[in-house]
Amino acid sequence: MSERVKVAVIGVGNNISALVQGIALHRATGSLVGIRRPVLDGLGVGDIDFVAAFATSPEKIGRDLCEAIFLPPNNFPRLTSQLPLSGVTVRRGLTGADTSEVERVAGDLAGAEVMLYAAPSGRQETAQAYAEAALRAGAAFINTTSDAVARDRQLMDRYAAAGLPLLGDDLASQFGTSVVHHALLRLLEERGLTLTSSYQVNLGGTEDFRNLVENSNTKHQSKLNALTSQGSAAGRVHVAPLGYLPHLKSHKVAHINIEAQAWGETSVSMDVKLKVHDPSGAAGVSVDLIRMAASALRQRRAGYLAEAAPLLKSPPGTSI
Ligand SMILES: NC(=O)c1ccc[n+]([C@@H]2O[C@H](COP(=O)([O-])OP(=O)(O)OC[C@H]3O[C@@H](n4cnc5c(N)ncnc54)[C@H](O)[C@@H]3O)[C@@H](O)[C@H]2O)c1
Repeated sequence: MSERVKVAVIGVGNNISALVQGIALHRATGSLVGIRRPVLDGLGVGDIDFVAAFATSPEKIGRDLCEAIFLPPNNFPRLTSQLPLSGVTVRRGLTGADTSEVERVAGDLAGAEVMLYAAPSGRQETAQAYAEAALRAGAAFINTTSDAVARDRQLMDRYAAAGLPLLGDDLASQFGTSVVHHALLRLLEERGLTLTSSYQVNLGGTEDFRNLVENSNTKHQSKLNALTSQGSAAGRVHVAPLGYLPHLKSHKVAHINIEAQAWGETSVSMDVKLKVHDPSGAAGVSVDLIRMAASALRQRRAGYLAEAAPLLKSPPGTSI
């Protein structure tokens, strides 16, 4: 049996709730629903252990991780009536880039091999400060936010030199707007049609949406990065500003429109509505990124990992 993976989580929001609960559900029932890779490099989904957690909200600090994930404003639903306490007490996270605070967090990682950074997007300095803490502690770093961490060449070089993997930036949700939109645009091209114009609209009721509505600069570019890797789509694909509708709770509702031309310059029009639990899309890829990072760390493969790129919206080399 492989050694279990020790993970520290930064931010105890909806995505961590979905991840912690999904792993517990799999352990309790053996369910493989929604799990793309039951085993990855010898590591099962149930081989992931949470050993440390950091938050900034006073209500969550000092609570067990498995209690803190249900505190507001988190609104991802309860997946199982029985969730044992984790034994991990949520600690105070970083609020700045102060060196002594970075040292404190590095010292509190409890032997974590992987730091999963899941704080709000749009806080570049905070993201980099946590990446610094992971580097000092000898842990791999996964940036789930749209802030530039893996796209920072200097940081990537330092991770590579230290023998540590650095994965990011921004998750491409397991079955989210980016993945579906990208697949439809690719299909159009494969079938010989000509794209005229396309847009996507995303509405959601999570704290992440509330934050991104106010603070969406890095996210907007990151969403475009996920779509315009097909050169021909650049300039004709638009991402509308995000909309926050609290009553949607953890659902995301997305509308994708594609206008194109087919044989004889005749028109084709397609509208797709997608409704998902947004945090599930993040957990479904985080579970793979964690195991990729741990496996690479153990094999002494450092820096950029090409196998992680399809799970990310903005891997190194894409626009900031
Ligand atoms: N499908 C998805 O949900 C998806 C996809 C791609 C990327 N992401 C990104 O993943 C990240 C997490 O998403 P979420 O829905 O869990 O967000 P969330 O807002 O529910 O959770 C973030 C948590 O981090 C906490 N936090 C704020 N500052 C902190 C700090 N300095 N240290 C520690 N914790 C801090 C917040 O209090 C909050 O509890 C976001 O950046 C989001 O943009 C999400």
